[in-house]
Amino acid sequence: MHAGLNLLALALVPFAFATPLAKRAVAYYAPTAGGGSELDNAGSGGGEPLNVIISGLSSPEVLTDDGIVNFAHALGYSRECLDIHSGAPQTANLGDGNGWVDQLIEIREDYGSSSIGTCLESLVGGNHFRVWRQNGTSADSGALFLAVSKEEDLSEHHTIVANGYNIGRNLLVSAALGTTSAGDYTYSTTAENVTGLIAAGSTGVNHGIAQDGIVTVLTVTIV
Ligand SMILES: *[C@@H]1O[C@H](CO)[C@@H](O)[C@H](O)[C@H]1NC(C)=O
Ligand SMILES: *[C@@H]1O[C@H](CO)[C@@H](O)[C@H](O)[C@H]1NC(C)=O
Repeated sequence: MHAGLNLLALALVPFAFATPLAKRAVAYYAPTAGGGSELDNAGSGGGEPLNVIISGLSSPEVLTDDGIVNFAHALGYSRECLDIHSGAPQTANLGDGNGWVDQLIEIREDYGSSSIGTCLESLVGGNHFRVWRQNGTSADSGALFLAVSKEEDLSEHHTIVANGYNIGRNLLVSAALGTTSAGDYTYSTTAENVTGLIAAGSTGVNHGIAQDGIVTVLTVTIV
């Protein structure tokens, strides 16, 4: 009986190591400290500000690919319409040694329907965000960096509304704060504004739209 239990315990050990969802020790590293940028590369000569960070000190499950998608559902956002990108993927360099890498995922406001709502967002415009993970060996915080913006509709070719970076960030953060839930998960989220990661203004910013230099750091805890 005891021998059997020990064998079972041994058999489980490799799985425990295969998915080490241990809580991280650092909220994030400033991308510029490692030769990266708080602006992504939109391929147009400018970039979108990485204006929201999901802290590495969040519950580790939130920082996984499935975890951020479920958290997005809790805020009324879903993966892109039929998973079709409306534009080329953008790249970002989070200063973690990985260099410039494609966005992991793009997520849109879903207007209450996770299956067709994001298609509606594509047509009528709304809030959306791109996600990168800071997990290179030289700055492995596990934090997610989000480029959030509020867009015009498709007839405007998904350009950003005036002040769309600040507005997009504030809308996402308002939706995230406090208690939210989706699927089997309930989240408790706090926010802190950080300056110094990116200069305020429009220098280097896609479409020349000024932003206020504030990055909001969200700490998302599964309760
Ligand atoms: C780092 O994150 C990327 C996605 O952003 C993923 O493809 C890669 O497997 C991760 N690397 C490690 C070591 O977990
Ligand atoms: C962060 O800054 C924005 C823009 O000024 C503001 O609306 C928001 O309330 C601030 N949030 C926190 C947590 O300080």
